[in-house]
Amino acid sequence: MSAIESPASRVWWKQSLDRVEGTWIAIAFAWCLVLFFMMPYWHVYGKQNLSNEAYRTTPERYTQKTQEMVDKYTVRTETELKIPVVHPPAGSDVYLIARLWQWWPMLELEEGKTYRVHLSSMDWLHGFSLQPENINVEVHPGYEHVVTMTPTKAGAYSIICNEYCGINHHTMASKLYVVKQ
Ligand code: CUA
Repeated sequence: MSAIESPASRVWWKQSLDRVEGTWIAIAFAWCLVLFFMMPYWHVYGKQNLSNEAYRTTPERYTQKTQEMVDKYTVRTETELKIPVVHPPAGSDVYLIARLWQWWPMLELEEGKTYRVHLSSMDWLHGFSLQPENINVEVHPGYEHVVTMTPTKAGAYSIICNEYCGINHHTMASKLYVVKQ
């Protein structure tokens, strides 16, 4: 058969399923099902795909809520950009802004307490990636994502952006502190 001339037999595609082909289709389909059911399984037992909710918001409304928290609970500033580090009450709602090319403010949480961590973007898509815990949440503009998080180990964690967001994507890194009470 050539790509230029028409096929010799007009119904060349209408042949019965070969055994090898059928086997591979079955294997691929079974694997699809395994991966599909891994999603809910991993949510319940994996401790990484956290429970999350999403609400509509605007950059203005979200900034206002974040600013209120920053005004109340800032304990110090860090880096030459003077990024506030906030230590909100244990168990409260905490807000984190993603924007070109910064996470703002920095959060300081207490070990063993459960927080509702709110995330929203001021411009376009960013990715919240908590290292070395491997927690990943896409951060969309216009949406407020709420992730319920209980830090189990004190230390300094890194937040990096894992969605390519422009020329300074690689500099979009921050810290998340977990402290003992
Ligand atoms: Cu923000 Cu990449």
